[in-house]
Amino acid sequence: MPATATTPNPSEEDLLFRLLRQLEQAPDASQRATAQALGISLGRLNAQLRAVTDAGLVRISDRAGPDRRSRFAYALTSRGAAEKVRLTDRFLARKFAEYDALHAELTGTTSGLVPLKHRTKIVQSNLTPIPELYVSYESAQKLKVEAADLVSWDLTPRQINDLELLMNGGFNPLKGFLTEEDYDGVVENMRLADGSLWPMPITLDVSEDFAAKLEEGQDIALRDQEGVILATMTVTDNWVPNKAREAEKVFGADDIAHPAVNYLHNTAGPVYLGGPIVGIQPPTHYDFRARRDTPNELRAYFRKLGWRRIVAFQTRNPLHRAHQELTFRAAKEAQANLLIHPVVGMTKPGDVDHFTRVRCYEAVLDKYPQSTTTMSLLPLAMRMGGPREAVWHGLIRKNHGVTHFIVGRDHAGPGKNSAGEDFYGPYEAQDLFREYESEIGVEMVDFKHMVYVQERAQYEPADEIEEGVTVLNISGTELRRRLAEGLEIPEWFSFPEVVQELRRTRPPRAKQGFTVFFTGFSGSGKSTIANALQVKLMEMGGRPVTLLDGDIVRKNLSSELGFSKEHRDLNIRRIGYVASEITKNGGIALCAPIAPYTATRRAVREDIEQYGAFVEVHVATSIEECERRDRKGLYKLAREGKIKEFTGISDPYETPENPELRVQTEGVDVDNAAHQVILKLESMGLIAG
Ligand code: PPS
Repeated sequence: MPATATTPNPSEEDLLFRLLRQLEQAPDASQRATAQALGISLGRLNAQLRAVTDAGLVRISDRAGPDRRSRFAYALTSRGAAEKVRLTDRFLARKFAEYDALHAELTGTTSGLVPLKHRTKIVQSNLTPIPELYVSYESAQKLKVEAADLVSWDLTPRQINDLELLMNGGFNPLKGFLTEEDYDGVVENMRLADGSLWPMPITLDVSEDFAAKLEEGQDIALRDQEGVILATMTVTDNWVPNKAREAEKVFGADDIAHPAVNYLHNTAGPVYLGGPIVGIQPPTHYDFRARRDTPNELRAYFRKLGWRRIVAFQTRNPLHRAHQELTFRAAKEAQANLLIHPVVGMTKPGDVDHFTRVRCYEAVLDKYPQSTTTMSLLPLAMRMGGPREAVWHGLIRKNHGVTHFIVGRDHAGPGKNSAGEDFYGPYEAQDLFREYESEIGVEMVDFKHMVYVQERAQYEPADEIEEGVTVLNISGTELRRRLAEGLEIPEWFSFPEVVQELRRTRPPRAKQGFTVFFTGFSGSGKSTIANALQVKLMEMGGRPVTLLDGDIVRKNLSSELGFSKEHRDLNIRRIGYVASEITKNGGIALCAPIAPYTATRRAVREDIEQYGAFVEVHVATSIEECERRDRKGLYKLAREGKIKEFTGISDPYETPENPELRVQTEGVDVDNAAHQVILKLESMGLIAG
């Protein structure tokens, strides 16, 4: 904790607060002017200045300027800026308490304004500004220079999403990444240490090496992926979390079929850092700038338009007629204006990319009655945490100034678990939201499942339809199938503009890129089959084909790597990256590494499935047969101990459980094996029959 965290008495604390504020506003003022502004003597000011510089809150620099009265300039350090934010809260809380006491004395009743614990709770109506963690523009410029010397952490895409919402108040009341105490409370019972409701751990996960070099109370710089410093953070907490417990408590199961649990175990770093943030600048977005709003920008917008009741619709999917109908009905029911609030940060792997979605949303926006509805993009990294996520979404929307929130069936659902069952009940999210509704401060509008009634040619809530009428519905899976196969999508289901956008991004499968990923022991026949397949695909033509064979990759891409687990994973992630780029751009990538680890193959699958199909082919030649063939003479060397960590001999191979295809090679010729793959590709619609 900063040295001043337990400042002794209120009047000293007030003075410290006013001093920090004064130095931030007029860093170049003479000491006399500063003392006057604070109403204290020069001697007292000097003592105070010494104390704050000693505590690392203020930095003094010489100003060799012509004005001799202001020889020194006083700049707030990042810790000083954080302390100022903290003191602002306490200062306001005290003033409100004083006001309330006076109110009680005069009227005998409480003012109703009394602080609970945070000023945000006191003054927050849905239209007044909420606190952000940014410092002023001038301080940010200075801080940036100062922060260049700090140890820095390069944020991951998810951390950048989290940081943006921390800094702009979207995650209010959080003041930084969670401390260990807050994290424990959030994991256990959805509460921060001070008792506020907060259901989702917002943690800064880092590597062991990085965490090991930090001391308690050290300031670090947080950089985006291009190295731009977005914020500084005072690291007050540094701990190794119990990830299995986090998965169980927060997501309901320690099962990597859940995207957030998979992220937790296979992407997030092993150590968490916590501490307050000082915001320097928001992450840069080059896309849809006019459509992005901070909570305060949205509040100001609602204020300007005189919108008092606003119902928000959260979505990570394109909007079709049913969504339009239900949001329109929700707005009517709540007698509110409508905010379409799509998530454009990280969503579920495999979702339609946000560029396409935003173009679709823009098309749908025209279908609402004019000036009742607006759209704003939310840079949130979803966790697909169902019930907890719904509560979290409510709090985030509250911060964005909305009064009502639509919660649907299976809100933020992660799909099926490893046993093929739903992680959460379809209405669990609504139930949890209802339980915390008053504390969230946003009213829930529960989702009506809308279906199309053919006889009346209109959408109606499924639970209000009498028997005997024809109900039409196209599920998400069916829609994807129709897009993949280039089949008709009827007008009653979606808007022509939306379908056109989706068809542009998702051409039929036979025109999309894809990856065939062979895995199996060394010498199992992966390369031979992949070579034959390459020639067959080239003969068919239409799409460029690239072969990323294990040996070739190791020569060209991964020549410095060995065969430890870490190096093998790196090798496979590189192959996955290249294959995902090929797939994204409409080509065919054939990969043929050993790829012995399930989790790594799964990670590669996720990278690729964003862009096209991933066809895992297990070349299931037994280790005995591979050793008997021993084409390269490596098995012999491995048995003699001359090659260490040899897959199948002295290193593990995790057999794929559900590959798209398993090929036996014993007694089967190469041509036939390659043909089996061709048939599989045909049956998946990836090549024309
Ligand atoms: S991995 O695990 O996927 O990164 O391995 P990969 O890059 O596919 O391995 C390529 C070839 O390296 C040879 N080789 C070894 N394989 C396994 N274990 C050890 N220790 C090892 N040392 C060298 C082996 O011939 C692999 O061959 P193929 O036949 O291409 O699978």
